[in-house]
Amino acid sequence: MSVVIVVGAQWGDEGKGKVVDLFTEQADAVVRYGGGANAGHTLVINGQKLVTHLVPSGVLHPGKPCLLGDGMVIDPHTLLEEIAELQARGLLAGGELLIGQDAHVILAYHRLVDGLREDRAAGKGLAIGTTRRGIGPAYEAKAARRGVRVRDLARPARLRALVEANLDELVPLIQHLGGKPPSTGEVDRWIDDALAAGEKLLRYVGDASRAIADLLAARKHILFEGAQGSLLDIDHGTYPYVTSSSTIAAGACQSAGVGPTAIDCVVGITKAYATRVGGGPFPTELHGEAGARLREAGAEFGATTGRPRRCGWLDVAALRLGVRLSGMNGLALTKLDVLCGQPEVQVCVAYELDGKELDEPPQDPEDVERARPVYATYEGWGPIPKDARDLTDLPAPARRYVEALERLAGVPFYLVSVGADRAETISLRDPFGDF
Ligand code: IMP
Repeated sequence: MSVVIVVGAQWGDEGKGKVVDLFTEQADAVVRYGGGANAGHTLVINGQKLVTHLVPSGVLHPGKPCLLGDGMVIDPHTLLEEIAELQARGLLAGGELLIGQDAHVILAYHRLVDGLREDRAAGKGLAIGTTRRGIGPAYEAKAARRGVRVRDLARPARLRALVEANLDELVPLIQHLGGKPPSTGEVDRWIDDALAAGEKLLRYVGDASRAIADLLAARKHILFEGAQGSLLDIDHGTYPYVTSSSTIAAGACQSAGVGPTAIDCVVGITKAYATRVGGGPFPTELHGEAGARLREAGAEFGATTGRPRRCGWLDVAALRLGVRLSGMNGLALTKLDVLCGQPEVQVCVAYELDGKELDEPPQDPEDVERARPVYATYEGWGPIPKDARDLTDLPAPARRYVEALERLAGVPFYLVSVGADRAETISLRDPFGDF
């Protein structure tokens, strides 16, 4: 038995979907932890693209249980759409899905408040750039202990009482933010829609943490799939430009109800460069033509919102922070091929602040503004052969780049991805094999 956590090491969109899909070959079950429909994984099924937001990427392996942890915030309509699309493609046919009954539910008013807040903040130049999927407001309700949980979708009277209690506080806020308060009819419709969705989802709902405990007792291999990335963590990320959940590896234990002693291995995912969507500091960002070239080459447009991602050089100082926060045993390096054709490749190896060199980025927003990234420059490389399966198959400068990153990050690489296809992978270590 081994238990592996896959976690984004940057600001999300590191290519976790492909890595989870590869690692699931050896896993007996996959558990998604944290977040909600703010995430987006692009899956390719029989040559057709499908974006999932809630169901783990491990779904591509029929028969392997896919669990949604209790720490998630679930939009029932998005989930139903995903289930229907996956089933139409022959997946999720055998009842593999289990939705944690204590996960929180995103309702229409969460999305409404998220959007209104962002619009208002944008007018003052303070927008976080959220995905507007209601993630923040749903986690706020959870922390305020008036959230609606998946289990409440089967209890009409309780659901109504919770929605009414929430709206009692939210209607004045909606008005303050310039929104139109919902009519009684609209609220009734929200409740009816949630109940109808709950009825359809009921067959998948259960005690996820107990199910995971049973898998552990049966000595199964379990893969925990993180969403977003370490630098978007609510406690340790670039606050306030973060999401509202624990995206670091510890979030897997928290969300799934599993003790930290059960975890054997944590693999972080990092791209060979960096991207970020939404606001917040990004010292290695490339503006203008250089950023646009990287965006085109890497198809860096949000899978959830379609927004163009901000692109820049890899920040190894930030990567070290991610490695430390999640206790990563190693990294999977993705999208190395996207850098092909760059005359030279830069990497931020440290920060300089007030005459001192820092091996991790400064944490205070004002210090981030003042700090200067220190770059190392590497020779560029030409095309990577499609059949590269070993580091020795890489052009020499690309190989030197990979070796330098491994040294700078301070942990070994589990794999290097050189293309979108499953096969276009240089496998170096087996996360399930070390134990
Ligand atoms: P929220 O999670 O929708 O509240 O958005 C908060 C911040 O996290 C924004 O900057 C989003 O762009 C970012 N974010 C949330 N989910 C993802 C993701 O899956 N990939 C990349 N960025 C994300």
